[in-house]
Amino acid sequence: TSPTLADRYGRVATDLRVSLTDRCNLRCAYCMPPEGLPWLPTPDVLSDEEVGRLIEIAVTRLGVTEVRFTGGEPLLRPGLADIVARAAALSPRPSLSLTTNAIGLDRRAAELRAAGLDRVNVSLDTLSPERFAQITHRKRHADVIAGLVAAAEAGLGPIKINSVLIRGINDDEAVPLLRFALEHGYQQRFIEQMPLDAGHIWSRSQMVTADEILASLEGAFTLLADPDERGGAPAETWLVAGYPGTPKVGVIASVTRPFCRDCDRTRLTADGQVRNCLFAREESDLRALLRGGGSDEELAARWQAAMWGKLPGHGINEPAFLQPSRPMSAIGG
Ligand code: GTP
Ligand code: 5AD
Ligand code: SF4
Repeated sequence: TSPTLADRYGRVATDLRVSLTDRCNLRCAYCMPPEGLPWLPTPDVLSDEEVGRLIEIAVTRLGVTEVRFTGGEPLLRPGLADIVARAAALSPRPSLSLTTNAIGLDRRAAELRAAGLDRVNVSLDTLSPERFAQITHRKRHADVIAGLVAAAEAGLGPIKINSVLIRGINDDEAVPLLRFALEHGYQQRFIEQMPLDAGHIWSRSQMVTADEILASLEGAFTLLADPDERGGAPAETWLVAGYPGTPKVGVIASVTRPFCRDCDRTRLTADGQVRNCLFAREESDLRALLRGGGSDEELAARWQAAMWGKLPGHGINEPAFLQPSRPMSAIGG
């Protein structure tokens, strides 16, 4: 049997999330302070060639079947289309997706589709341009909408919209956001805020929970159980009754309904560290091995060892929980 990215709890990682930069052109309140963060020094960031090689190892030697590009904001990475194209040329070809704020996607969607990108998940927390500016500290709402339209036109679907609801700011938008998504054929997902912000301002009482989100949705829609297998997906999904094509809505309830038992993810940071969990306390340095002349076999073995040590869960709900030292924007969601 060929090697896999297994851990001692029986989980096998087949889904690789690659962060291509820790930089972002937005400053979402639950993620980054308005002044930004100390970015990774350029020499520490993997080159396109280095990222390409590590993806190749994961796909051809370690059983990874899905590759998702994240950030910070991955559209800020100049070599994105080349990295996508190299991954698309692998055999077996992995599925390729992007998690993005969609700013600038209007100009890049066709090129990325042509390079082999299959689909995009777009972050959008509000339908109001004013609130968008309040949440992200940038007046770019129209750019996001333009990016969504272009992604759909380019065939980068099914498109999912990721929304974080923040108490007192956009927590009244669950219903309008879902209506908007249904109208345009996007799959709406609501995400519980996680303790991953750089400013460590997360608090349990401020978090809008899955139960609250579902209660607001059920006031306006009929949600039915989704018969499809969930697999390792973070989102729990429901069918929205009464709409053609049985669209779905999802809730990603990392805090109140953890799904760690079924986790199938491995992560690579922009500076070449493997993280076996979003909340991992330790990383494994592939960059040093790579730049020190390590072989594909050695890199694969280090990656496997990193995954073997994965903890059973994130521990957010335990008293001893400690937020990871890297913020979300440097991990890649
Ligand atoms: P799909 O392949 O479309 O299902 O993508 P996805 O939902 O896995 O990825 P996306 O990047 O759109 O992430 C949506 C939300 O889920 C983000 O807030 C992520 O941080 C969160 N998320 C992704 N993977 C994990 C995970 O392994 N654990 C936890 N707790 N949250 C995750
Ligand atoms: N908790 C939950 N989701 C977050 N995201 C960013 N920071 C957090 C957080 N602290 C979301 C973004 C994006 C996705 C990749 O992760 O809104 O949609
Ligand atoms: Fe997997 Fe860690 Fe996410 Fe839990 S928090 S689902 S263990 S990556």
